[in-house]
This record gives sequence, C-alpha cells and structure tokens, in this order.
Amino acid sequence: MCSIQFKVNGKKCSANASLYRETTLYAYLRYTLGLPGTKAMCKQGVCGSCIVTVKVRRHTTETVQTFTVNSCLVLVFSCHNWEITTVEGIGNRREGYDVIQQRIAALNGTQCGYCTPGWVNQLNVYRDKNMTMAELEMGFAGNTCRCTGYRPILDTIKTFAVDTSADLCQKIRDIEDVQEFKCKKDCQRKCSTASGSSDWSVVEDLSLNDDTEMITLDFGNGYFVKVFDVNQIFSAIEKYNTNYILIDGDTSKGVFQDFEYPPLVVDISDVASLKKYSFDQNLVLGANISLEDCIQIFKNVSNTDEFKYLVEFASHLQLVANYPVRSIGSLAGNFMIKYTKNSYQSDLFLLFESVGATIEIRDSSGTTVSMPLTKFLSYDMTKKLITSFMLPPLSTSHVFRSVKIMPRSQNALAIVNAAFNFKFNGNNVENATIVYGNISGTFNHPSRTEQYLAGKNVFNNTALQEAIAILDKEIVPDDEPPEVSPKYRKKLAIGLFYKYILGIYPHADLPSKYKSGGTQIYRPVSKGTQSFQTNPTLYPLNEAVPKYEAIIQSSGEARYVNDIPPMKNEVFAAFVLSTVFNGTVSEVDGSEVLQIPGVIAVYSAKDIPGKNSFAMPGYQLETEDEQILAETVQYYGQPVAIVVADNEILAVNCVKKVKVTYTNVRKGQPVLQITQATKDANRYLAGDSIVATKKGDNITKIVKGTFATGAQYHYYMEPLSCVVIPVDQGLQVYDTTQWMDLTQTVVANCLKMKESDIHVAVSRLGGGFGGKISRNCEVAAACALVAKLLNVPCRMVLPLNTNLTIAGRRLPCNTDYEVGVDDDGKIQYLNAKIVEDDGCTHNENILSFTMSGFPNCYDKDYINLSTGAVTTDLPSNTYARAPGTMEGIASIEQIMEHIAFAVQKDPTDVRLINMRKEDNDLPDMIATWKKETDYESRQEDIKKFNRENRWKKKAIKLSVMAFPVEYYGNYSAMVSIYRGDGTVTVTTGGIEMGQGVNTKVAQVVAHQLSIPLSYVTVLASFSFVAANNVFSGSSIVSESVCYSAIKCCGTLLERLKAIRELLKKEGKENPTWHELITKAGEEEIDLTATYMMNEKEPDLQSYPAFAVVVIEVTLDVLTGKFQIDRVDILEDVGLSANPNVDIGQVEGGYIQGLSYYTVEKFVYDQKTGKLLTNNGLNYDVFLCRDIPVDMRVKLRYNSDNPKGVLGSKAVGEMGVCTAHSIIHALRQCIYESRKDSGYDVTQWINIDVPYTTESILKALEVDIKEFTLS
Ligand SMILES: Cc1cc2nc3c(=O)[nH]c(=O)nc-3n(C[C@H](O)[C@H](O)[C@H](O)COP(=O)(O)OP(=O)(O)OC[C@H]3O[C@@H](n4cnc5c(N)ncnc54)[C@H](O)[C@@H]3O)c2cc1C
Ligand code: FES
Ligand code: FES
Repeated sequence: MCSIQFKVNGKKCSANASLYRETTLYAYLRYTLGLPGTKAMCKQGVCGSCIVTVKVRRHTTETVQTFTVNSCLVLVFSCHNWEITTVEGIGNRREGYDVIQQRIAALNGTQCGYCTPGWVNQLNVYRDKNMTMAELEMGFAGNTCRCTGYRPILDTIKTFAVDTSADLCQKIRDIEDVQEFKCKKDCQRKCSTASGSSDWSVVEDLSLNDDTEMITLDFGNGYFVKVFDVNQIFSAIEKYNTNYILIDGDTSKGVFQDFEYPPLVVDISDVASLKKYSFDQNLVLGANISLEDCIQIFKNVSNTDEFKYLVEFASHLQLVANYPVRSIGSLAGNFMIKYTKNSYQSDLFLLFESVGATIEIRDSSGTTVSMPLTKFLSYDMTKKLITSFMLPPLSTSHVFRSVKIMPRSQNALAIVNAAFNFKFNGNNVENATIVYGNISGTFNHPSRTEQYLAGKNVFNNTALQEAIAILDKEIVPDDEPPEVSPKYRKKLAIGLFYKYILGIYPHADLPSKYKSGGTQIYRPVSKGTQSFQTNPTLYPLNEAVPKYEAIIQSSGEARYVNDIPPMKNEVFAAFVLSTVFNGTVSEVDGSEVLQIPGVIAVYSAKDIPGKNSFAMPGYQLETEDEQILAETVQYYGQPVAIVVADNEILAVNCVKKVKVTYTNVRKGQPVLQITQATKDANRYLAGDSIVATKKGDNITKIVKGTFATGAQYHYYMEPLSCVVIPVDQGLQVYDTTQWMDLTQTVVANCLKMKESDIHVAVSRLGGGFGGKISRNCEVAAACALVAKLLNVPCRMVLPLNTNLTIAGRRLPCNTDYEVGVDDDGKIQYLNAKIVEDDGCTHNENILSFTMSGFPNCYDKDYINLSTGAVTTDLPSNTYARAPGTMEGIASIEQIMEHIAFAVQKDPTDVRLINMRKEDNDLPDMIATWKKETDYESRQEDIKKFNRENRWKKKAIKLSVMAFPVEYYGNYSAMVSIYRGDGTVTVTTGGIEMGQGVNTKVAQVVAHQLSIPLSYVTVLASFSFVAANNVFSGSSIVSESVCYSAIKCCGTLLERLKAIRELLKKEGKENPTWHELITKAGEEEIDLTATYMMNEKEPDLQSYPAFAVVVIEVTLDVLTGKFQIDRVDILEDVGLSANPNVDIGQVEGGYIQGLSYYTVEKFVYDQKTGKLLTNNGLNYDVFLCRDIPVDMRVKLRYNSDNPKGVLGSKAVGEMGVCTAHSIIHALRQCIYESRKDSGYDVTQWINIDVPYTTESILKALEVDIKEFTLS
C-alpha cells in the first residue's frame, strides 16, 4: 500500500507521497481539506489551539478510544485508520451547534476566539468520561487562552462535571431559556448539567483496515514507512540503510529546537507488542505505551502494597506535558529525549530511576539486553529498539515521594524535579535513593548523600544537617540559560529534600510550625462571582448579551487572516533571521535552498522596489524608518531575507539554509539593558516631565529605591500573519493589523504603488494587545512584496520563535525614586526618573503615557518626574496593553508600598493620605470594598497563620487605580439600513480583537434606532470605509466607534423624520420600523450614513477610570511556589454598554498582568543578543490553574459617566494596571519568612520583577542551616 487512509469529520481521506513529507495534520486540514476551524500558534504541543479529536483502536486496551492530539505535531501520514473530528465536525451553522459550543459562547468563554476550537475539542473528549470539576480543571493544561483569564472557560467546562455546582447549573438553565442557545443538533447525547447522566458510550467498533503490511511512501528525497511489528522496524532500517528516526507520538520535536527529520521516518505507533503491559514479579511496560495509558495502568495496579507507589507516579505524570501530548507521547520517546540530551529533566526517567527500574533493548538479530537506566544513557542505541521497562515491587518499608517544581502550575518542564525513595528500618534509613532532574548532564543521583544516609536516623537534626551539607557540596548545577541559575536550582533541590523529610516525619513531636513545610499548597477547585447592575429600560444597551461572534468562534466559523481559503498557485513566505546583532548584510546566498524542490524564490532588501521601511515617520507613534529586510542589522534575529516555497512548512524549514554574510560586525557585547544603555548619551532621548508646584517641610524619612520591570510578549494566540492577493491592478491585503492605515501606506510605499490600489480588510484578530499596531507591517510588507514580484497570492504566518524574536514587546522600564515623607507617610517631595527601553528605534515611545499614569490617584503637586528612553540592541518595542500607563501606575504603587514600609504604617492609609482631593472616587470605593471583602478580619487571620507556620506564609494587599482616560485619534463608522427588511449593517474603523467592539457597536446602533439587536450585522473593517483611521490600540476604541455610530444613527434618524411626516400625512401615525424603512426606500432616501469622530469632539472629555483590588496569596517558602487564593476586584466602568464584555476585559486584563509580574521573562545570550526564551516551553504565561482560586469581580453600581459615551467608561486596559498588587503581596510573604529567618526586616530589599521562583528564592534567602526539625 502506498497511501495512508483516515477519516476527517466522517469523510474518507487518503494521503500519499504527492504531499510534502513533513506535512502535519494541521497543515493538511487547513491547506488540503480547506478546514480552517483548527488554529495553530506554537506548533510545539504547548498552546492547544490546534487540538483535534481522534477516535481509533488502541493496542494497550484493544478498545476504540477517543482522545485529543495536537494536530501541529502529528504528521498526516501518522493518521492511518484514525477518525478525526475537527471543530467543524463537532457542530456548525448547517447542522446545528453542539452544546459545548453553545455553552462556551453563552458563558462568555470567548474573546478573540482564536483559542476556542482547541478548548471545544478537549472538552468534547472529556465530557463523557464522568469527570469531577477538579479532574476537569486539571485536564486542560494543554490549552492557553490569553484573553479571557480562563474563569469563564472553566465555568463552561465545569458544567460538564459529575459534581457541577448549583450556581453553574442555574447558569445553564438560564442559558437554555435563551432561544439563541437552544441546542439544535440532532443527537442522542444527554446534555444535562447533572451529569451522572453520561449515557453515551464512545467505545464502539470502527470499520478498521486490518491490513498489517508495511506502508512505504517514497518522497524522492526521503521515506515515510509505517510498520506494524518489530521485525518490520528492523527491516525498514536495514533496507534503507540511512539516517533514520522512529516516531510514535512524534511529540518530542516539540521539546527540541531546530528539529529536522532524517531521510527515513519509521512510524512505529501501530506496533502492538510495544504497547502491552504484563506482570512477572515486576510490572512490565511495553516501551511505547502512551503516558496517558500509563496513568491509567498505574491507577489500576496500585491497589497492592508493593505497587502503591504508582499512585504517586500517576499524579506526577499528570504534571508531564498535557493531555494531548500524553495521549500519544510514549515512554520510550521520553527516555530517548533524555538519552539524546542527558541534562533533560525527564520526569519519566526521574520516577523510573528512583525505584530502580530497568530497560530492555533489542537489536536487529533479536538479541535483547536489559540494564539499569543510568547505563542506558551511554549505551549505543544505533539500530536498537527499546522494547520494555520493568518496574519492581517495593516493600512497605519504602517511602516514596516525588515532586516537580515548574515555572507555572502545569505544562512546563521542571526547574528542578526530584524523587525520593527511602527504605526504612524503624527510623533508620536502610537504603536511600534520591534522583534529581535538571541539575546537569552528568548528575542524576547525589550518591554521596545517599551513601551517607544509609543506616542513619534522618529524623534528627544532626543527621539531617550533615546530609544537607553533603548535598550542598555535591549538587553542582550547569549554568545553562535560560534555565534558572545554578545557585537557585541547588537551593531548590536541597529545599525539596528537606520538604520530603518534613513530609514523612513520623512523630507527633515535629513542631507544628514546621509541618507546613512537608506539604505542597493545596489548590481547591476554582470559582468566581461576577456582580453588576443593569437597567432593562435601556436594553439592548447595558444588557449582558453574549458576544456578537461568540458562537461562530466556538465552531471555528469565525474567519481570521489565515482562514482565507487556500488558493491555486499561492505561495508561502518565511523570514531568514540575522545571526549577528549588528553589522551590514553584504550577501544573501539562496542558491542551496533554490535547489530544493518546492522552493520558489529567495528575496533580500535589494528586491524591494520602493522604500525599505515598514514604519511611516510622521504618522502617529512613528519617528523613524525601520527596514523590512535588514541592510544594516540592529538586533540578533532581525529579518534579512525571505524564502518563498509552495508550502508553509517547507518555507519555514528552509530559512536556516540561506547563507548570509555580514561585514562591519560590531565587536563586543550587545547592549541589552537600560542600565548599560544609559551610559551612552547617543542612546538616550529625554522625554517630558512633571514639575512639582509644592514641597512640604515635615520630612522625617527619606525613601530611595529603584523599581525595574521587564518586557512582555503579547502572546496573542494568532501569530502575525498576512495573505496578499493580486486583484485587478492592486493588492488585496488581509493583515493581522490593529492599524489598517499604516499597513496600507507601508505596503504602497515599499512597492511603489498607489495607496488607492492597496485594499486592506480585517475581519477580526486572534488577539492584539498592541502587538499588531505596527509590528505586523513588516510581515505585511514582506508578504505583499512576494505577491507583487511573483504575481500570485502569498501567505505568511510567523512561527512562534520568529514572532517572539522579531516582534517588539512591552517596554522594560526603570524607575529611580527619592521621596521625603512625614511620620504618617505623607509625601513632602517626590523626585523620580523613569527610563524606558525603546529597543533599536524610538518608534512607539510611550513616555507620555507613563508620565500621565505615574501620578495615579495621588496629589500631583509634590511630584517631580523626569522621563527618558534609551535604544538597545533589541527589536523595537511596541505598545502592550496599557502601554506606559501600566508602568507608571506600577511605579508609584511600588513607591507607596516602600513609604508604608519605611514609616511602618498600613499601606492603604499611606495611599489615602497622599490622594488627590478632586475627581477621585477611590476613598469611598476603598471603604466599601474593605467592608465587602472582609479585609480587616482576613488580615487578622493571616497574621495568626504566619505566626503558626514557618514554611508557608500568607499576605493580603489592597491596591488602587485611577487610569487617566483620554480620547485620542479618529474612528469612522458607516451604518446602512436596507429597505427590503429594515436590517442594518455597520462597519467601523475599530478592529475587533476580542475586546467586544462589534458587540457594543451593535447594541448601541440597535438602541439608537430602537430596533431589535438581531437586526444589526457588524461587518469586517475595510480601509476604503475607515480610511486614514488611527490604530485600534487603547481602551477608548469601543467608545469612540460607538460615538461615530451614534452620529451615523442620528443622521439617519434625521433623514427618517421627513418620512415619518409623510407617513403621518398618509394616516400612519406610528409606523413600524419596517413600514418606515420601506417608505424611505420608495422615496429614495439615502439610508447610509458615515461619520468619523476625533478627539476634538466637544462632548468628549477625559476622565479617570477607578478600581480597587484586594488580593490574598500563600507562599511555599521552601520552593518559592505560590498560590493566589482570592482576588476581589471592584471596577468602575460607568454605565456598561455590556457587562458581560466588560467583566471579560477586567478578568482577562488582570490575569495577563498577574502573569507578567510572576512568570513572563525574556532571557538573552549576553554575548550574541540571541533571545533564548523563544518558544512555548520557555516563555511561560499563566494557564488555567495559575489563576486565583476564588475570583470575584464587581462592576461598580450606580456609576454613569457624564464625560463618556452613553455613560460608559473604558475598560480594556485597566485590568493589567491593577495586577501589580501580586508583587506586594508576595513581598509581604517574603518579609514574613525573613522575619523568621532572623533578618532585619526594617531593611527594604530589592526583589527582581518578575517574581519568578528564582527571584522569590533569592529574596527569601533561607539559609540551609534553618532546615531543621526543631
Ligand atoms: C509540550 C510538551 C511538554 C512536555 N513536557 C514534558 C514534561 O513536563 N516532562 C517530561 O519528562 N517530558 C515532557 N515532554 C516530553 C514528552 O514526554 C515526550 O515528547 C514524549 O514522551 C515523547 O514520546 P513520543 O512517542 O512522542 O516520541 P517520538 O517523538 O515519537 O520519538 C522520540 C524519540 O524516541 C525514539 N524512540 C521512540 N520509541 C522508541 C523505541 N521503542 N526504541 C528506540 N527509540 C525510540 C525515536 O526514534 C525518537 O528519536 C513534553 C513534550 C511536549 C511536546
Ligand atoms: S499546540 Fe499545536 S499549535 Fe500550539
Ligand atoms: S479568547 Fe482565548 S486567546 Fe483570545
């Protein structure tokens, strides 16, 4: 046989060697089948946007199972006999939407919607498995959402649990009363929330192709061979006698950077014998059992004493990767990663090695050898196959524990992992096995410590301290950035050992204070409440209607840029990136790649017919040019050339093969930090300042400090993408842009074309957060260049590592301050200097926002602030949600905390005493919120907790925000009424990127015209309608666009007045809308109106948006891990146009901020400037189990805003501006521990932001001598 057979959404498909050999299932679905519902972002198995459902017979259980896979990792040729369901197959507009899609839409679980198909698919697989809320929450480690903050998605998920809560059940009943959300799908499934009702068996027989003949696909320059038994594996290897790889799940390439398939790929996923398990006295696991099946096996066989330890194995394995990866990722595959890279922190190796498991390996002659795992690491595996693993029984005198410390709660590689397996005789250790991961390539066991412990009673201070002292000496971690530094990996490793001892300490005499060290922080099922007022007399305005496009997002029918259907002759482009941080590009040699079949062209700067710039000096934000393809390199990884190929994967795979030579390469190290750059006057640009008008003289304390914050990647789930189609004499440009005008101008300029021949259209973005205001233009210009030069459609979608490398980020910011205060902390003078890192150009300098954000709610009279920006050898930075304002507010709030610390007063009192009197609702809001959140009594409980616990600490903090909202720029709207039925379309210059602008504008238009909401359709944004509009990049977009729409409606209503008069004369006093419009049509009235507002509208004035937030956290002192126990947010959004949308903005922004302050970090190679955190496994963002356990949001009641549009206030950027309180809460926990450690806690210490595990451990400074038992 020479083709692979499978089904997609019930239709038979066949893949053969006419495709590119590296074609993934994702690429096949999208480009061959034209099914765009399945999205992709990381292409690494991390983000989950590409998840699809698979049903197939599996060899371990010999049943048909339904599970999910990451279609970005799976080769389409590995799908033999699979039945694949994509989001389109789960439910759609033709056959009806599925209940999952209904619920996620109705419960506000979509914003940009780009992640939604992945969640829907994962839930589709779980819903019939009778899972509890806790199990379900645990099961979504493989799904990232950057917009929603997860809470509404988790609500949706939990409605499918067997133990759904009463309030969620009520929510579902409410939804089901809404006609729009009635399930129209014809199926037998029970959809009740009281799910014990799962009566729908997915296990049925498939009409399988039972053929077990080897399938060989010959691609000319490589082979794909599908085998069905072990002998076939060896014959394939022998036959082709070339470099080969065995693939089972094929997931390990998600871990390796620069992965390339060798000429021979042998798919062993259907070799049944490698998938079975049995018992002799050991548990014998077939080498290629999937990790998910292992979890089941471990759970099933752990009921005997000697295999009890497998309970721990099962729960540890749930922290490995994520469900889709574990569903097909195998044991052997995992071990081979460790084999290839000995320093890899394999969790499987860790667990198996700690119980003395052995591995069995076979060669082509059939000879098998079994050996310890450590020996395997240096065994020659050429032409060898792992056949099984043997897990031994352990007597009851063994005490096993394992632990994994990760940068976030799930779906991450370990910073350090450890497994401890001690055999006891009474209190004496008979035999100690300790295994650590991620220490170094040569270190797995601290063997001297193990030896020392043998025969010792470890439950006494002397033995424990001696063991720790030996550990301290023998753990020598490698320095391998971006890994956590050696010092803190060692600290963690020792802390984990101490934690193990505390956890298993057998006596009642362990001081109760110490017990908190023996456990991890327990996380209950999360929950949330949302509270808001609405006024039904205004409906549909102010009504919490679901998002306009939610249902089509949940079904994958909402179109994004790369969802433009595949076109004949289309080509794909990918950037070649520079390998120096500075220099002149002297030659781009594409001759080698041009030999590769399917590669069409290689272009460099000299191929650009017009101006080589993707910036537009003179437009808002832009002051200097930026090269599309570098002639002069300004940072490591800058695009220097483009490879064009006939498919996406080939184009991306070829970029490294283009040879680029550089001259004038600057010697020395790149400038990567603000502190380095400020030393060079040429890099510095002074900004605006605030000059104090008053100075007090009651100065009793002077507080000085520096507050430094880092960069943040936007992590929009939709990568920067563009599709350009030559049309007539022009180009149709579908760009992921927040600013159509800039894209249009840049493309016209670089191609020397008329602007009027460049037509930009944007339906929606899969997230923007400021990152698609200008950075997208480099991609759009490159894509348009290819389309123009080749005169064919061109598609360009940035791989995550390119996107992370070239796209600018939130600006790092350093604030130096000196404040003179009185005894109560009242500011007498405040001198501050803020310097921001603009990256390699000063475009999008945000100092003015920083400056206006800095005073926050405080009395400005005493503030002297100067600002400045530097250039560094990094990509030019860009707007990121609340650019500048966030940094400004965070800086002053840090200063307030510092003052309170210095004068030993309650920080809220210090804030209140320094607040401005005018235009400030915060004192009232604080008083209300303290009461409603029980702040004071919780504070007392926390004090008690901290006294009673040495190794866990808690804190509660309150923070405030007065965000200065200013109208800025110009936004158009066009409203058209159709005479046939009176329905209405709206198109605007406001780009929908998840913030809900389309929903709000539809509500406003329906309200203004007094028509049902269902009459209003919102169309994509078009450059010819919203010509010359500014970017959609701040919170005022929704309001501004609504303002223009109101003006359009006003014009139309004015025109309709005459028609009303006419009808009145004809005896129709109160015509229906339909009658009115029909008549207007007959009278040839212009039923289309346009309006473009700008910031000079007399009825629009600036105003502050307020928020008060209370946060409570727990910190585990031994590991630096923390949990956000509860958050209460009170936000003033005025009269909300749509409380659903606004709650979503508040929650989503807040979680994005928490993530920024705690896990998001850029690490560079200091010598080359290369970004090291350039993929989904080392640039982390919050996942669903990182969010607060209890998240309560209230939109302030009775709060019409007279200065805004229809009483509302802006909301999109505010959430991130309140999240800084996490660092103050953690700082408090750190001080509580430092107090116990005996440090002088009147000394303020600098703690690096983000508060990562490393930063926290460093600040805690726990001495290992403190690791005692009394
Ligand atoms: C997003 C993500 C997160 C992850 N997180 C973790 C984590 O937290 N902890 C952790 O430990 N791991 C983690 N992993 C690694 C994961 O466990 C492995 O990718 C998976 O187990 C590999 O199995 P596979 O079947 O897909 O291997 P494949 O990718 O199919 O194969 C990998 C290698 O193993 C070889 N191989 C496979 N079977 C055999 C055999 N029987 N004999 C000889 N050679 C063989 C292949 O030739 C190949 O070189 C993560 C992976 C991803 C993608
Ligand atoms: S997991 Fe496949 S694209 Fe991210
Ligand atoms: S809605 Fe989840 S990423 Fe945008």
